[in-house]
Amino acid sequence: MASKFQAVTGMHDILPDDQKYYEKVYETAKEIAEFYNFSRIETPIMENSDLFVKGTGSTTDIVQKQMFSLKTKGGDSLTLRPEGTPSVVRSYLENGMANWPQPVKLWYYGPFFRYERPQAGRFRQFTQLGFEVIGEKASIVDAQIIQIYYNILKELKLNDIMIEVNSIGDGICRPYYRKTLASYLRSREAVLCTDCKRRVKENPLRILDCKEEKCQNAKTQAPQIVDHLCDECKAHFKEVLEYLEEIGLSYRLNPYLVRGLDYYSRTVFEICQDGKDGAPMAALGGGGRFDGLVKMLGGKDTPAMGGGLGVDRIVAAMKAADVKVGEEKTVKVFLAQLGGLGKKKSLKLFEDMRQAGISAGESFDRDSLKSQLKIADKYGAKFTLLLGQREALEGTIILRDMETGKQESLKLETVVQEIKKRFKK
Ligand code: HAM
Repeated sequence: MASKFQAVTGMHDILPDDQKYYEKVYETAKEIAEFYNFSRIETPIMENSDLFVKGTGSTTDIVQKQMFSLKTKGGDSLTLRPEGTPSVVRSYLENGMANWPQPVKLWYYGPFFRYERPQAGRFRQFTQLGFEVIGEKASIVDAQIIQIYYNILKELKLNDIMIEVNSIGDGICRPYYRKTLASYLRSREAVLCTDCKRRVKENPLRILDCKEEKCQNAKTQAPQIVDHLCDECKAHFKEVLEYLEEIGLSYRLNPYLVRGLDYYSRTVFEICQDGKDGAPMAALGGGGRFDGLVKMLGGKDTPAMGGGLGVDRIVAAMKAADVKVGEEKTVKVFLAQLGGLGKKKSLKLFEDMRQAGISAGESFDRDSLKSQLKIADKYGAKFTLLLGQREALEGTIILRDMETGKQESLKLETVVQEIKKRFKK
């Protein structure tokens, strides 16, 4: 009977069958993080709301519409983290990481929360992993971050990965571009969606990646930022593209890619999987430079670069591509028991086998020998140990070779050693 309780809208259980996919993504990211020298960081799931208002940005959809916030009894406003970058920068500053050898390279994995309209691949609680490099301005880092994400997805056997890149300039060139763009968009204001009408004034760049059809049409002749970059930003972007070419990563330049968070400067990227009809699917990940964020949150002027991957979307893509994960657990020895005393002694013997490093299986909740042997067969166990009432009284145990069906009686107290010996042969 279905329970009257259900998971909160947009939040879901990750059931046992799905755990192996999540574990595979985590293990792959961890291995790659270790190779590229990133250290794991875990920040709390809640932060003071102001951190995201300031860090993620007051004009972003995240801050305007998607934060799960609450007031504590003491009157503080806290928010369930909608993304990881402001938290990592807060931790960098709070823990004096600015005094560590730079750059500081950190990665994280965990749950994030956004009050979005739930749909396929878009949840209110989702799992994200992220890599951030703080304290390095060289363009090689931009290319390396993109490469890391590409490598994770390739390692997970996902194909048709498409990388989109753009540069959105910096505090010197972007204001001029913003003005030019805003005056172009003002002439099209009538046809824009309600959100974008507001954005013309607040944040015209965001209109470029609005998914509404009327806004997509309005932007086709919009001035492009690549034509308005200052010399330094242009040189930086050129180098990033050269590095990507050098490492053989194919990418698509998307002059309208701006990303929805306020802290980005210079390089921005998104990684998608091409859909069956060639159209890009929802982004598996994205990121970019956030050269101004450390200073904005109270630190010194410190360049930084990073990105995040949506783990639930990756798991969905792995399932759609029928990627095989998780070896079935190998059980070398199955322990079957019969009768009260047999069951009692089995528990201790099972523990002894664990301590001796023998991979073992049991089915203590079953009493019929036939059904226990069926499970032993399913596990593909090489041996089954049978501990019945008589054996338990005599201090013996029966060892059955599952291939030949041959059975022999062994002493209970030495059986663990005996099995170890047989596997050494
Ligand atoms: P983001 O693009 O907002 O960037 O999120 C990164 C990825 O998280 C997305 O590409 C998507 O795969 C996944 N994601 C986001 N929202 C949802 C959702 N509601 N349901 C399922 N998956 C979702 C950031 O969060 C930045 N902090 C990335 C970054 C790090 N930039 C620099 N450093």
